[in-house]
Amino acid sequence: MADLSIDVNGIRFPNPFVLASGPPGTNGTVIKRSFGLGWGGIICKTMSLDSSKVINVVPRYGRVKSREHGEVIGFQNIELISDMDFDTWLVELADCKAAYPDRPLFASIMEEYRKEAWQEITERCQATGIDGFELNFSCPHGLPERKMGAAMGQAPEIVEEVTGWVKEVSKVPVWAKMTPNITDPAIPAAAAVRGGADGISAINTILSISGINLDTLRPMPTVEGYSEPGGYSCQAVRPIALRHVMHIGRSCPGVAVSGMGGVECAEDAVQFILLGARTVQVCTGAMLHGYEIIEQLCEGLSAFMDDKGFKTVDEFCGKSLQYFTTHADLVARQAAARTAKKEAGRASHDTMWKGDIAKETEELTGK
Ligand SMILES: Cc1cc2nc3c(=O)[nH]c(=O)nc-3n(C[C@H](O)[C@H](O)[C@H](O)COP(=O)(O)O)c2cc1C
Repeated sequence: MADLSIDVNGIRFPNPFVLASGPPGTNGTVIKRSFGLGWGGIICKTMSLDSSKVINVVPRYGRVKSREHGEVIGFQNIELISDMDFDTWLVELADCKAAYPDRPLFASIMEEYRKEAWQEITERCQATGIDGFELNFSCPHGLPERKMGAAMGQAPEIVEEVTGWVKEVSKVPVWAKMTPNITDPAIPAAAAVRGGADGISAINTILSISGINLDTLRPMPTVEGYSEPGGYSCQAVRPIALRHVMHIGRSCPGVAVSGMGGVECAEDAVQFILLGARTVQVCTGAMLHGYEIIEQLCEGLSAFMDDKGFKTVDEFCGKSLQYFTTHADLVARQAAARTAKKEAGRASHDTMWKGDIAKETEELTGK
């Protein structure tokens, strides 16, 4: 039987599956219920010192469905961080730790660009006994208007400075959660590491518009006739998330990466681990299918490990990173392989397209 547990920054996770910051960890009741069901760790919904500034709207979610079966493949939200009073959060975090002392519970925190505010929220949260922090440098909507969230995450010098403020007072590990709404994810990730981050979480949601209602001509989710671009998550973002995790893993060796984006089953999660993620977070998957998916996640991971002969998660964490290379190297490898097989000519040439484009596309697609 495979051992699903993993040590990250000196914290033992019974399995690598962590509920991501968002609706799944909005209060103590659901956090305790999730630990009871077997989640390996939980990052609570992002909190700030003054929740009175957080005002949500309804509806705030939008869905993109597959054409054939109507399955939800993309999910948009314009939800803000937690609107629960900070003092209530402190009581609930302490209560969760008392109920589940050996389960990793991280506080996701976000503040305005003020050292005193970041250090106050850090010190007051850690007094509850939580195991770590995730710094939200990545909420893509609403809060950037207050220069918070992704507005910070897109400025590497601010990421470094704010991470440093938190590290000055934090006694527990600190992960920085990255925005995907940038060109090169390695730049802010490296800045967070310079600031002292022990881990990097990626990705938060991708700025998006889930659709336009063709009856009303209004964008969705429609709030009193209007909308705003929101954050995209769920299956559709997984390939982008995998790319970010790969780049961050390669550019920040030795830093604990927590990967997420579109994980709904063990096969999705294993791919993040193969790219170096030591934990895998799940948000939309739990929202769509329920907290109970933890059972299938653990069973599926265990079956994969037994099938491949891996006894621990460490044995395959990052194993696929070595297979990324440059385009020039791919060309050289393919030329060498063709020479070895004594094949003449070039493998692919634009003059080979004759007009049956769907069939020709299929022929060029990896199996
Ligand atoms: C409705 C909703 C609310 C979210 N709220 C937060 C939040 O408060 N803080 C945060 O760091 N990420 C938040 N996220 C982002 C998720 O934690 C996660 O980074 C993202 O959704 C990608 O993972 P997924 O495809 O498993 O959902 C939220 C996501 C959703 C869908």
